[in-house]
Amino acid sequence: MNQANEKRLAGEAAIRFVEKGVIGVGTGSTVNYFIDALADVRERIEGAVSSSEQSTERLKKYGIPVLDLNAAGPLALYVDGADECDPHKRLIKGGGAALTREKIVAAASERFVCIIDSTKLVDILGTFPLPIEVIPMARSHVAREIARRGGQPVWRDGTLTDNGNWIIDVHGWRITDPLALEADINQITGVVAVGLFAKRPADVVLVGNREI
Ligand code: A5P
Repeated sequence: MNQANEKRLAGEAAIRFVEKGVIGVGTGSTVNYFIDALADVRERIEGAVSSSEQSTERLKKYGIPVLDLNAAGPLALYVDGADECDPHKRLIKGGGAALTREKIVAAASERFVCIIDSTKLVDILGTFPLPIEVIPMARSHVAREIARRGGQPVWRDGTLTDNGNWIIDVHGWRITDPLALEADINQITGVVAVGLFAKRPADVVLVGNREI
């Protein structure tokens, strides 16, 4: 089965987790399939909290109300894609530069359903360069701290996040202890968020329409 087809199946399969209330919605091409399917059941839900301007636009196109997380409160369900997923459902995310808002919505949700195609499954995280959102003036400082830890930082030149920040992609890390690395990077001054989802992994992973 091709990659696009698996993404579509995963997006459609996630609909079975949707109950009434407000749904947390992530970002990316797989999530776009989820939003398309969500449009068919929009009467079931009150609205969505979105993790990006991109998803907000698509939700609004279907007439799905987009709500502020502060007003919506804790959510029952968050649906999002990923760039890599290990056997413990720990993830690398942020290929689409939306990692900080994705982390916030995931943290505020009781259940995180991750929708991916099979190319995203790995034994050890790190082949996909690890995205880190940084305050612009801290870019070089954070890059030096990453290099000191053996990573190769590459500035994603030209990308501005929805929060007005920059992205550094870290190449060359074989992430054997994602929890420790997430905690370590989080305490570098100038880091807004790192695209490692180890402290808050997915609860359910759908690879195409197959749950793992
Ligand atoms: C967005 O910042 C990312 O975390 C996406 O969730 C991730 O890149 C998955 O994207 P695709 O669904 O387009 O593969």
